[in-house]
Amino acid sequence: MLTPAPFDKLRLRQYPPVKQGQAYNGADTLLVQAALASGCPGEQILVVNDEFGALCLALRAGALWTDSWLASQSLKNNLAANEASAVKLCWSTEPLSEIVAKNSCALIVMRVPKQQAYFEYQLSHLATVLPVGTTVLVAGMDKHLSPATAKLLETYIGPTERHRGQRKARMFTCMKDSRRPAPYAEIGEYFCEPLNSNLISMANVFAREKMDIGSRFLLENIAGLEASDSIIDLACGNGIIGLSALSQGLCKKLLLCDESAMAIESARRNAQNVVPGRDISFHHGDGLIGYTGDPVGLILCNPPFHLNHAVDETVGRRLLVQAAAHLLEGGSLCLVANRHLNYLPVLKREFKRVEKLAQNGKFIIWKASR
Ligand SMILES: C[S@@+](CC[C@H](N)C(=O)[O-])C[C@H]1O[C@@H](n2cnc3c(N)ncnc32)[C@H](O)[C@@H]1O
Repeated sequence: MLTPAPFDKLRLRQYPPVKQGQAYNGADTLLVQAALASGCPGEQILVVNDEFGALCLALRAGALWTDSWLASQSLKNNLAANEASAVKLCWSTEPLSEIVAKNSCALIVMRVPKQQAYFEYQLSHLATVLPVGTTVLVAGMDKHLSPATAKLLETYIGPTERHRGQRKARMFTCMKDSRRPAPYAEIGEYFCEPLNSNLISMANVFAREKMDIGSRFLLENIAGLEASDSIIDLACGNGIIGLSALSQGLCKKLLLCDESAMAIESARRNAQNVVPGRDISFHHGDGLIGYTGDPVGLILCNPPFHLNHAVDETVGRRLLVQAAAHLLEGGSLCLVANRHLNYLPVLKREFKRVEKLAQNGKFIIWKASR
């Protein structure tokens, strides 16, 4: 029999704010109930992939391992709203060994991430740092779980129990044993024709194995854009669009922004390899919020179109509004969008002139100028 999770006693909000959004789901509930029943003190719990901070708050966890700046901001806001003490944050790009040793992590509480490559990377890394005997609780919503979940846990961590589904979610309990699985080859790599060079991507980066067809279409159409001293690649992923624009002479200075720590780190490594010594800076955050650099003449963007697992226009729209505020008078935003995403009303509202630069069966490239 399930007892209600203690989320009700907490003030929890999603960041970015979503109308009628709930900051926890059935998978979080199963994890909190099992973690509390284990009796493990909160400071010895490491939470992995908490979306909005609900797990960390309900468990008073010692640390969070995450790739997402948005998730870190949700946690920060929710800690403040509940006057709760700080949770140590460890980015996906940082090794866990120090946190595991310092917090003497006795329990891992993990939400299955969206990308399987990232899940495997995380399990493979946990396998190298966790002491034998550590319990790992893992859960996800039924509609998002792959049939391979239990097998992956067995491969990387150890003996795994698959629990009965409840609340449209399922939990797995596994115990770290002495196996030493081969490390997961997390770096994806492909040849990028516009750069005449290979690009790498870490495990949680968009289009890790090959160039996205939307990015390709945008790059086929940027040559005619007016060059600008500085360009921003907003939501840069591995940096493909901004680095290509720089190498084609569209700008002297480039800013690469993304909310994923692995995207920023991949873009940084690609910048070093492909255009060493060039004037490139990085912003890890929610679009351009908090960015204090000068406005620029051109922003290029292949915007995100998913909110967690669902196709959603609001995430992209927020970035387009931010772009308008960081352009010089006369500057332009050039973005590629799937034809079924309706960005035109927001572009018309935020910009003086909006034109269709190109289109094909799948995408439209919009140029919106101030
Ligand atoms: C469609 S991908 C494009 C990536 C890259 N520009 C390309 O063309 O391959 C969108 C990117 O937006 C990032 N993203 C999602 N929400 C964001 C936000 N609020 N602020 C900054 N980046 C965000 C994702 O991490 C992802 O890298």
